[in-house]
Amino acid sequence: MPGLRQIFVCATPGEGRCGEKGGAHLLKLFREEVSRRGLPPSSVVRNGCARRHHEGPVVFVFPDDVWYTRVRPEDVPRIVERHLVRDGARERAGRISSL
Ligand code: FES
Repeated sequence: MPGLRQIFVCATPGEGRCGEKGGAHLLKLFREEVSRRGLPPSSVVRNGCARRHHEGPVVFVFPDDVWYTRVRPEDVPRIVERHLVRDGARERAGRISSL
């Protein structure tokens, strides 16, 4: 069993923050994507500022410990597929990943 996996989406508002860079919209898209796939709503969590907004919008996947930076709307299905749908998800401790 793959266990609990969650996607944390930074949607922090404010000038130069992820929310302003599209994070708020991404949060909505992630929630729609998990709903469409019949995954639990708790799979997507609104994240607070992780002090990486210079690379924002940022998305973090637990427990894979994978960060995605400069995430675009078209990346959402792929991130959900990769981390929430596939069994035997990868352990990527300490890695920063880009699409
Ligand atoms: S606002 Fe997203 S990392 Fe700071």
